[in-house]
Amino acid sequence: MIPSLPPTSVPRHGRVDQPTDLCVVGAGYVGLTAAACFADLGHRVRCLEANPARLDLLREGGIPIVEPGLDELVAHSVEAGRLSFTGDVREAMGEASIIFLCVGTPPRPDGTPDLGQLERAARDVVTATERDLVLVTKSTVPPGTGEALEILCAEAAAPGQRVSVVSNPEFLRESRAVEDFFHPDRIVVGAEDPEAGRRVAALYEPGPAVVLSDRRGAELVKYASNAFLAVKISFANEIAGLCERLGTDAGPVLRGVGLDGRIGTQFLNQGPGYGGSCLPKDLAGLLAVGEAVGYAAPLAAAAEETNARARRAVVEKLETALGGLAGARVGVLGLSFKPGTDDTRDSPAVDLVRLLVERGAEVRVQDPLAAPLALPAPRVDKPLDVAVDADALVVATAWTDYAALDPGAVGAAMARRIVLDAVNVLPTERWRDAGFVVYGVGRGAATSFHPVVWAPIEWALRSRLEPAGLPERDGLPERDGLPERIPALA
Ligand SMILES: NC(=O)c1ccc[n+]([C@@H]2O[C@H](COP(=O)([O-])OP(=O)(O)OC[C@H]3O[C@@H](n4cnc5c(N)ncnc54)[C@H](O)[C@@H]3O)[C@@H](O)[C@H]2O)c1
Repeated sequence: MIPSLPPTSVPRHGRVDQPTDLCVVGAGYVGLTAAACFADLGHRVRCLEANPARLDLLREGGIPIVEPGLDELVAHSVEAGRLSFTGDVREAMGEASIIFLCVGTPPRPDGTPDLGQLERAARDVVTATERDLVLVTKSTVPPGTGEALEILCAEAAAPGQRVSVVSNPEFLRESRAVEDFFHPDRIVVGAEDPEAGRRVAALYEPGPAVVLSDRRGAELVKYASNAFLAVKISFANEIAGLCERLGTDAGPVLRGVGLDGRIGTQFLNQGPGYGGSCLPKDLAGLLAVGEAVGYAAPLAAAAEETNARARRAVVEKLETALGGLAGARVGVLGLSFKPGTDDTRDSPAVDLVRLLVERGAEVRVQDPLAAPLALPAPRVDKPLDVAVDADALVVATAWTDYAALDPGAVGAAMARRIVLDAVNVLPTERWRDAGFVVYGVGRGAATSFHPVVWAPIEWALRSRLEPAGLPERDGLPERDGLPERIPALA
């Protein structure tokens, strides 16, 4: 059973005015969602998938990814004869003249995207037919990729065959992919050939804002959007770090900031940093593009640095709380990069497990849904299993199921009652009442405020601190006289 997934309002089985034959290449989060949703709108969709195991599963009626509502949608359209899956490119092309490329563009070790899957897919489809084609990149690609694809296609095309490349970036959020397809904030279409762009825009239901631009602009919209979200999360973590040192709680602070309509509350939460298959990759891609054209992007670079610090900070906090990690038994709750998905690509939770093991901790891990992956620590079935004899627990993914855990039962199984809630999902008071020392992110306790750092109000603090008998040096309260605290809720 899928735990705690948000409700969806699908299937909708709407109808577009002009049903069109489409080919979707790649049946991952983006391709399978697009294929199923386009078919649900009434288009006839054939989906090409290169991975034989994935293809077999789809043909048997299975779904290789976890997305609420997707299984229902796929089953309905397959039964209605509007959706099929194949590994044969000619069969996939059918009568289609609009082809959506939804293959992976994973990062290479230097951060630049590997466009190999895209290049192969484009070559395959163009050489499989002599028809004129509109090739649509839904995959996230660096600006300029559309031009490169058009050159590649012109070389691979049959005499007289015309291929227009259109950019139509995808903005879906995993765990809400179907909802996002039917209710997008915007549809972005970038084309040098206006007729090709118009045909792509017309495939969608009318309603959402449509942004038309040239192809490079559309490609950049996707990079810039994800870079902005990454910057926003890193900014929230920077403010959270300040909150810890000032002895206040980042929760209300960030809410107070985010409720300003110009700012917005989404992606303004403190935690172990951003992760997943998109934000880190696209931010790195943006930086690489900047470098290639000789234009620095210091904000984006700083977001990356702050994100790495946010991940490390969780481990360091636990190290301080436990007085060292070597030999410590730590239970980690969560592996997916966010709740509601099985995706663990570049997940902060997975990073956390690796960092803890590197520092000598004995780690056990649990996640209700995460896809199988190689880990340096054993994975157990139930949340309580990670607690047995543990010195500390870390909550690394904000599954609401973890919020519902009984701290009494968890504590009874543990050697020490220490919990680090890196995603701020636990009801703190309940855990504290059960005898836990609870650490969070960005939740400074009033006692952790170190007045010596705050010179502008030193005149007021001195009058309050002196009667308490704190020693003075050079007119300032002495730093060494104050207890060193790590930010904690305890
Ligand atoms: N996952 C997201 O949330 C998301 C959101 C927006 C954009 N994107 C972008 O969309 C693209 C796809 O992402 P994803 O998460 O769906 O990737 P994915 O890895 O889940 O899916 C890609 C699929 O393409 C298949 N494939 C690769 N080459 C193929 C070929 N030549 N022919 C047929 N099938 C082929 C793979 O086997 C795989 O099933 C990426 O560029 C990503 O950055 C992803």
